[in-house]
Amino acid sequence: MSAAYVTRREHFSAAHRLHNPAWDEGKNERVFDKCNNAAGHGHNYILDVTVAGQIDPDTGYVIDVKLLSRIIHERVLDKVDHKHLNVDVDFMRGLNPTVENIAVGIWNELQPHIPAGKLYRIVLHETEKNSVEYMGE
Ligand code: NI
Repeated sequence: MSAAYVTRREHFSAAHRLHNPAWDEGKNERVFDKCNNAAGHGHNYILDVTVAGQIDPDTGYVIDVKLLSRIIHERVLDKVDHKHLNVDVDFMRGLNPTVENIAVGIWNELQPHIPAGKLYRIVLHETEKNSVEYMGE
């Protein structure tokens, strides 16, 4: 059998505000600059989810990408698309919604629902220039 890595790309749009409630307004403005805007701002995120595993000799798949897409929609996209990450999203509650923290949150949402041990990496692109890769602990 051969191992392979399968990646599914999905998109979502969401608003956020970078803010640390332990700091005063001045420090929040200095550290987070425009990203601290009180009413938030939006991004069109691109999410790449990679699953690793052996190619099944019967199907020729590591994972059926239709199943992978359904898991991503049910566990992540339905919760974040067209939402405000600071207020609407259960798995981001109490976290500053940087692209790093969103990537970890998405990993934790997906991991229990991907067939055993197969979630390999997620890459979350916040802009054309900025992305975060997360591979678990
Ligand atoms: Ni932003």
